[in-house]
Amino acid sequence: MRNIAIITGASSGFGQEFVLQLAQKYPGFDQIWAIARRRDRLEQLAKIVKCKTGVTVVPIVMDLLDLGRMGELEIMLRQEKVAVRILVNCAGFGKIGMVQDQNIQDLINMVHLNCESLTAVTKTVLPFMSSKSRIIQVASTAAYLPQPGFSVYAATKSYVYSFSKSLNEELRSRKITVTAVCPGPANTEFFQVAASEKEEPFYKKFFLADPKKVVKKAIKDCSRGRNESTYGVAMKLVKIMSKLVPNNWIIRVIGWMQEVTS
Ligand SMILES: NC(=O)c1ccc[n+]([C@@H]2O[C@H](COP(=O)([O-])OP(=O)(O)OC[C@H]3O[C@@H](n4cnc5c(N)ncnc54)[C@H](OP(=O)(O)O)[C@@H]3O)[C@@H](O)[C@H]2O)c1
Repeated sequence: MRNIAIITGASSGFGQEFVLQLAQKYPGFDQIWAIARRRDRLEQLAKIVKCKTGVTVVPIVMDLLDLGRMGELEIMLRQEKVAVRILVNCAGFGKIGMVQDQNIQDLINMVHLNCESLTAVTKTVLPFMSSKSRIIQVASTAAYLPQPGFSVYAATKSYVYSFSKSLNEELRSRKITVTAVCPGPANTEFFQVAASEKEEPFYKKFFLADPKKVVKKAIKDCSRGRNESTYGVAMKLVKIMSKLVPNNWIIRVIGWMQEVTS
Protein backbone atom coordinates (compact mmCIF):
# COMPACT_ATOMS: atom_id res chain seq x y z
CA MET A 1 0.00 0.00 0.00
CA ARG A 2 1.43 3.37 -1.05
CA ASN A 3 0.86 6.43 1.15
CA ILE A 4 -0.26 9.41 -0.87
CA ALA A 5 -1.66 12.94 -0.56
CA ILE A 6 -4.21 14.36 -3.00
CA ILE A 7 -4.39 18.09 -3.62
CA THR A 8 -6.90 19.75 -5.94
CA GLY A 9 -6.27 23.22 -7.37
CA ALA A 10 -2.56 22.38 -7.32
CA SER A 11 -1.50 24.40 -10.36
CA SER A 12 -1.31 27.73 -8.52
CA GLY A 13 -1.84 29.67 -5.30
CA PHE A 14 -2.69 27.80 -2.11
CA GLY A 15 -2.87 24.41 -3.83
CA GLN A 16 0.64 24.67 -5.25
CA GLU A 17 1.90 25.80 -1.86
CA PHE A 18 0.22 22.82 -0.15
CA VAL A 19 2.04 20.45 -2.53
CA LEU A 20 5.41 22.10 -1.81
CA GLN A 21 5.02 22.35 1.96
CA LEU A 22 3.52 18.88 2.43
CA ALA A 23 6.40 17.37 0.42
CA GLN A 24 8.92 19.29 2.53
CA LYS A 25 7.26 18.45 5.86
CA TYR A 26 6.38 14.82 5.08
CA PRO A 27 9.03 13.48 2.66
CA GLY A 28 7.77 9.97 3.47
CA PHE A 29 4.88 10.29 1.00
CA ASP A 30 5.24 7.81 -1.84
CA GLN A 31 3.39 10.19 -4.13
CA ILE A 32 1.42 13.43 -4.15
CA TRP A 33 -1.41 13.50 -6.68
CA ALA A 34 -1.81 17.06 -7.95
CA ILE A 35 -5.12 17.85 -9.69
CA ALA A 36 -5.93 20.88 -11.89
CA ARG A 37 -6.61 21.73 -15.56
CA ARG A 38 -3.24 23.29 -16.52
CA ARG A 39 -0.89 20.44 -17.38
CA ASP A 40 2.21 22.63 -17.90
CA ARG A 41 1.90 24.12 -14.41
CA LEU A 42 1.48 20.70 -12.79
CA GLU A 43 4.45 19.23 -14.66
CA GLN A 44 6.64 22.19 -13.71
CA LEU A 45 5.59 21.80 -10.06
CA ALA A 46 6.39 18.08 -10.17
CA LYS A 47 9.95 18.87 -11.35
CA ILE A 48 10.49 21.48 -8.63
CA VAL A 49 9.18 19.22 -5.85
CA LYS A 50 11.27 16.24 -7.04
CA CYS A 51 14.37 18.40 -7.13
CA LYS A 52 13.76 20.04 -3.71
CA THR A 53 12.39 17.07 -1.73
CA GLY A 54 12.67 13.86 -3.76
CA VAL A 55 8.90 13.34 -3.47
CA THR A 56 7.08 12.27 -6.66
CA VAL A 57 4.22 14.50 -7.73
CA VAL A 58 1.78 12.84 -10.13
CA PRO A 59 0.05 15.48 -12.31
CA ILE A 60 -3.62 14.65 -12.89
CA VAL A 61 -5.15 16.93 -15.49
CA MET A 62 -8.83 17.13 -14.67
CA ASP A 63 -11.61 19.68 -15.04
CA LEU A 64 -13.46 19.19 -11.76
CA LEU A 65 -16.57 20.81 -13.24
CA ASP A 66 -16.92 17.55 -15.15
CA LEU A 67 -18.30 15.30 -12.41
CA GLY A 68 -18.13 12.35 -14.81
CA ARG A 69 -14.36 12.36 -14.18
CA MET A 70 -14.90 11.23 -10.54
CA GLY A 71 -15.28 7.68 -11.82
CA GLU A 72 -11.78 7.90 -13.32
CA LEU A 73 -10.36 9.11 -10.02
CA GLU A 74 -12.00 6.20 -8.21
CA ILE A 75 -10.58 3.70 -10.70
CA MET A 76 -7.07 5.19 -10.28
CA LEU A 77 -7.35 4.97 -6.49
CA ARG A 78 -8.45 1.34 -6.73
CA GLN A 79 -5.87 0.27 -9.31
CA GLU A 80 -2.89 2.00 -7.66
CA LYS A 81 -3.67 0.41 -4.26
CA VAL A 82 -3.10 3.59 -2.26
CA ALA A 83 -3.90 4.88 1.20
CA VAL A 84 -4.75 8.59 1.08
CA ARG A 85 -3.19 10.17 4.18
CA ILE A 86 -4.11 13.77 3.32
CA LEU A 87 -6.77 15.18 1.02
CA VAL A 88 -6.68 18.93 0.36
CA ASN A 89 -9.65 20.35 -1.53
CA CYS A 90 -8.33 23.65 -2.78
CA ALA A 91 -9.79 24.09 -6.28
CA GLY A 92 -12.23 26.95 -6.29
CA PHE A 93 -12.94 30.38 -7.68
CA GLY A 94 -15.02 33.47 -7.07
CA LYS A 95 -16.43 36.22 -9.28
CA ILE A 96 -17.03 39.62 -7.74
CA GLY A 97 -20.14 41.57 -8.74
CA MET A 98 -23.85 42.06 -8.12
CA VAL A 99 -25.87 38.94 -8.95
CA GLN A 100 -28.14 40.97 -11.24
CA ASP A 101 -25.11 41.95 -13.36
CA GLN A 102 -23.34 38.61 -13.37
CA ASN A 103 -23.09 35.92 -15.99
CA ILE A 104 -25.38 32.97 -15.14
CA GLN A 105 -22.75 30.41 -16.13
CA ASP A 106 -20.18 31.98 -13.74
CA LEU A 107 -22.70 31.83 -10.90
CA ILE A 108 -23.56 28.20 -11.58
CA ASN A 109 -19.91 27.19 -12.00
CA MET A 110 -19.00 28.78 -8.66
CA VAL A 111 -21.62 26.65 -6.88
CA HIS A 112 -20.65 23.64 -8.94
CA LEU A 113 -16.87 23.76 -8.38
CA ASN A 114 -16.76 25.16 -4.83
CA CYS A 115 -19.55 22.94 -3.46
CA GLU A 116 -20.49 20.01 -5.69
CA SER A 117 -17.02 19.10 -6.96
CA LEU A 118 -15.50 19.46 -3.47
CA THR A 119 -18.21 17.16 -2.10
CA ALA A 120 -17.75 14.65 -4.93
CA VAL A 121 -13.96 14.51 -4.50
CA THR A 122 -14.34 14.05 -0.73
CA LYS A 123 -16.90 11.26 -1.15
CA THR A 124 -14.77 9.53 -3.82
CA VAL A 125 -11.57 9.64 -1.77
CA LEU A 126 -13.04 8.82 1.68
CA PRO A 127 -13.13 5.00 1.24
CA PHE A 128 -9.38 5.11 0.57
CA MET A 129 -8.53 6.97 3.79
CA SER A 130 -7.36 5.13 6.86
CA SER A 131 -7.43 5.97 10.55
CA LYS A 132 -5.59 9.22 11.48
CA SER A 133 -5.76 10.56 7.94
CA ARG A 134 -6.54 14.23 7.41
CA ILE A 135 -8.85 16.29 5.20
CA ILE A 136 -8.34 19.99 4.55
CA GLN A 137 -11.22 21.89 2.97
CA VAL A 138 -10.30 25.37 1.79
CA ALA A 139 -13.21 27.67 2.67
CA SER A 140 -12.72 31.42 3.26
CA THR A 141 -13.43 34.12 5.85
CA ALA A 142 -16.32 34.83 3.43
CA ALA A 143 -17.85 31.72 5.02
CA TYR A 144 -18.51 33.65 8.23
CA LEU A 145 -20.90 36.21 6.73
CA PRO A 146 -23.14 36.86 3.72
CA GLN A 147 -21.28 39.30 1.50
CA PRO A 148 -23.17 41.69 -0.83
CA GLY A 149 -21.19 42.06 -4.05
CA PHE A 150 -19.73 38.57 -3.59
CA SER A 151 -23.01 36.83 -2.66
CA VAL A 152 -22.76 33.49 -4.41
CA TYR A 153 -19.07 33.00 -3.61
CA ALA A 154 -19.64 33.73 0.11
CA ALA A 155 -22.61 31.34 0.12
CA THR A 156 -20.51 28.56 -1.43
CA LYS A 157 -17.86 29.03 1.25
CA SER A 158 -20.49 28.88 4.02
CA TYR A 159 -21.41 25.51 2.54
CA VAL A 160 -17.77 24.35 2.66
CA TYR A 161 -17.46 25.55 6.27
CA SER A 162 -20.65 23.89 7.44
CA PHE A 163 -19.92 20.66 5.53
CA SER A 164 -16.40 20.48 7.01
CA LYS A 165 -17.57 20.92 10.59
CA SER A 166 -20.23 18.22 10.43
CA LEU A 167 -18.06 15.83 8.40
CA ASN A 168 -15.37 16.20 11.07
CA GLU A 169 -17.87 14.95 13.63
CA GLU A 170 -19.11 12.12 11.37
CA LEU A 171 -15.52 10.88 10.94
CA ARG A 172 -14.57 11.06 14.62
CA SER A 173 -14.96 7.30 15.10
CA ARG A 174 -12.60 6.70 12.14
CA LYS A 175 -10.09 9.15 13.70
CA ILE A 176 -10.07 11.21 10.52
CA THR A 177 -10.10 14.97 11.11
CA VAL A 178 -11.44 17.65 8.79
CA THR A 179 -9.97 21.16 8.96
CA ALA A 180 -11.86 24.08 7.41
CA VAL A 181 -9.27 26.63 6.30
CA CYS A 182 -10.68 30.17 6.25
CA PRO A 183 -8.23 32.58 4.63
CA GLY A 184 -8.83 36.26 4.02
CA PRO A 185 -7.51 37.89 0.83
CA ALA A 186 -4.19 36.34 -0.20
CA ASN A 187 -1.67 36.98 -2.92
CA THR A 188 -2.57 34.23 -5.40
CA GLU A 189 -4.16 34.24 -8.86
CA PHE A 190 -7.58 34.33 -7.17
CA PHE A 191 -8.23 38.05 -7.79
CA GLN A 192 -7.09 37.82 -11.42
CA VAL A 193 -10.04 35.46 -11.90
CA ALA A 194 -12.39 37.21 -9.45
CA ALA A 195 -12.27 40.77 -10.65
CA SER A 196 -11.10 43.32 -13.16
CA GLU A 197 -8.66 45.87 -11.73
CA LYS A 198 -11.42 48.42 -11.12
CA GLU A 199 -13.65 45.84 -9.41
CA GLU A 200 -10.96 44.76 -6.93
CA PRO A 201 -12.35 45.08 -3.40
CA PHE A 202 -11.15 48.00 -1.27
CA TYR A 203 -10.11 45.70 1.61
CA LYS A 204 -7.72 43.66 -0.54
CA LYS A 205 -4.78 46.06 -0.32
CA PHE A 206 -4.98 46.31 3.48
CA PHE A 207 -5.12 42.60 4.30
CA LEU A 208 -3.36 40.74 1.47
CA ALA A 209 -1.68 37.70 3.09
CA ASP A 210 1.27 35.63 1.94
CA PRO A 211 -0.12 32.23 0.81
CA LYS A 212 2.99 30.49 2.22
CA LYS A 213 2.07 31.64 5.74
CA VAL A 214 -1.61 30.74 5.34
CA VAL A 215 -0.70 27.23 4.19
CA LYS A 216 1.96 26.78 6.90
CA LYS A 217 -0.63 27.57 9.56
CA ALA A 218 -3.23 25.35 7.88
CA ILE A 219 -0.84 22.36 7.89
CA LYS A 220 0.06 23.02 11.53
CA ASP A 221 -3.61 23.26 12.59
CA CYS A 222 -4.48 20.16 10.55
CA SER A 223 -1.63 18.14 12.09
CA ARG A 224 -2.95 19.12 15.54
CA GLY A 225 -6.40 17.85 14.59
CA ARG A 226 -8.05 21.30 14.71
CA ASN A 227 -11.32 21.63 12.85
CA GLU A 228 -10.65 25.21 11.74
CA SER A 229 -7.68 27.31 10.66
CA THR A 230 -7.81 31.08 10.33
CA TYR A 231 -4.60 32.96 9.57
CA GLY A 232 -3.97 36.48 10.85
CA VAL A 233 -5.33 38.75 13.56
CA ALA A 234 -7.56 40.72 11.17
CA MET A 235 -9.33 37.60 9.92
CA LYS A 236 -9.76 36.26 13.47
CA LEU A 237 -11.40 39.60 14.31
CA VAL A 238 -13.77 39.19 11.34
CA LYS A 239 -14.82 35.84 12.77
CA ILE A 240 -15.37 37.22 16.28
CA MET A 241 -17.27 40.22 14.91
CA SER A 242 -19.53 37.95 12.84
CA LYS A 243 -20.56 36.24 16.08
CA LEU A 244 -20.94 39.35 18.26
CA VAL A 245 -22.44 42.02 15.99
CA PRO A 246 -25.92 41.43 14.50
CA ASN A 247 -25.24 40.12 11.00
CA ASN A 248 -27.87 42.38 9.39
CA TRP A 249 -25.87 45.43 10.53
CA ILE A 250 -22.61 44.10 9.11
CA ILE A 251 -24.25 43.11 5.82
CA ARG A 252 -25.73 46.61 5.53
CA VAL A 253 -22.30 48.19 6.15
CA ILE A 254 -20.64 45.92 3.54
CA GLY A 255 -23.42 46.81 1.07
CA TRP A 256 -22.94 50.53 1.79
CA MET A 257 -19.15 50.23 1.33
CA GLN A 258 -19.74 48.53 -2.04
CA GLU A 259 -21.91 51.47 -3.09
CA VAL A 260 -19.44 54.19 -2.09
CA THR A 261 -16.37 52.42 -3.52
CA SER A 262 -17.92 51.37 -6.85
N1 LIG B 1 -6.64 34.00 -2.58
C1 LIG B 1 -7.61 34.41 -1.81
O1 LIG B 1 -7.74 35.61 -1.54
C2 LIG B 1 -8.54 33.40 -1.19
C3 LIG B 1 -9.17 33.76 0.02
C4 LIG B 1 -10.02 32.83 0.61
C5 LIG B 1 -10.23 31.59 0.03
N2 LIG B 1 -9.60 31.27 -1.16
C6 LIG B 1 -9.87 29.94 -1.71
O2 LIG B 1 -8.64 29.28 -1.89
C7 LIG B 1 -8.79 28.28 -2.89
C8 LIG B 1 -7.60 28.35 -3.83
O3 LIG B 1 -7.60 29.61 -4.47
P1 LIG B 1 -6.26 30.42 -4.74
O4 LIG B 1 -6.33 31.66 -3.95
O5 LIG B 1 -5.10 29.55 -4.60
O6 LIG B 1 -6.53 30.85 -6.26
P2 LIG B 1 -5.83 30.38 -7.62
O7 LIG B 1 -4.38 30.69 -7.57
O8 LIG B 1 -6.65 31.00 -8.69
O9 LIG B 1 -6.01 28.80 -7.62
C9 LIG B 1 -7.20 28.16 -7.99
C10 LIG B 1 -6.91 26.73 -8.33
O10 LIG B 1 -8.14 26.06 -8.66
C11 LIG B 1 -7.96 25.35 -9.87
N3 LIG B 1 -9.20 25.25 -10.61
C12 LIG B 1 -10.03 26.26 -11.00
N4 LIG B 1 -11.05 25.78 -11.72
C13 LIG B 1 -10.87 24.43 -11.80
C14 LIG B 1 -11.58 23.37 -12.43
N5 LIG B 1 -12.71 23.61 -13.12
N6 LIG B 1 -11.10 22.12 -12.32
C15 LIG B 1 -9.97 21.87 -11.64
N7 LIG B 1 -9.26 22.81 -11.01
C16 LIG B 1 -9.70 24.09 -11.10
C17 LIG B 1 -6.93 26.18 -10.65
O11 LIG B 1 -6.24 25.36 -11.58
P3 LIG B 1 -6.46 25.34 -13.17
O12 LIG B 1 -6.83 26.73 -13.59
O13 LIG B 1 -5.13 24.88 -13.70
O14 LIG B 1 -7.53 24.33 -13.38
C18 LIG B 1 -5.99 26.59 -9.54
O15 LIG B 1 -5.04 25.59 -9.30
C19 LIG B 1 -10.13 28.54 -3.57
O16 LIG B 1 -11.06 27.60 -3.10
C20 LIG B 1 -10.50 29.93 -3.11
O17 LIG B 1 -11.89 30.11 -3.04
C21 LIG B 1 -8.77 32.15 -1.77
